[in-house]
Amino acid sequence: MISNKISSAINAQINWEFWSGYLYLSMANHFESIGRKGIANWFRIQFKEEFAHAQIFINYLNARGAKVVLSPIKEVPSEWASPLEAFAATLAHERQVTSLINNLYALAEEEKDFATRQMLNWFIAEQVEEEETAQDLIDNFTLVGEDGTGIYQIDAELAKRTYKAPALLSK
Ligand code: FEO
Repeated sequence: MISNKISSAINAQINWEFWSGYLYLSMANHFESIGRKGIANWFRIQFKEEFAHAQIFINYLNARGAKVVLSPIKEVPSEWASPLEAFAATLAHERQVTSLINNLYALAEEEKDFATRQMLNWFIAEQVEEEETAQDLIDNFTLVGEDGTGIYQIDAELAKRTYKAPALLSK
């Protein structure tokens, strides 16, 4: 059993993960529409990862016998002035998600819910990676600035990204 406080906080987090997925799918569609297929590919994979995060939380609630409640997903933006702007928005969003995960962890500690705390360890490590990746891409796009060849090269690099389901989902 988990407390109502924990299950409603996890349900809220599920909505955030889906919203994150919508945000990145919207970014993917935007960059696809302007011919930046590599960046679009990167964001499409990010979208899949976010839906996988939501699924991990859903599986966890189901495993604990708690009710999953799916709420409406709020609208997401659909335009970004440049790749740099999109990745800056990505980093800002991931920092926000990190603080939500930290709050969940603090709540699990308060409730002495050790199983939830243990499950959240995966997300804490994942957020370090999410922020680092967004920062690296910001650094790369800042470095090339408006240089078309530089942007083309990063786009080609991002086209190589492939999706790998998180280990927690492949069990
Ligand atoms: Fe679900 Fe990008 O963290």
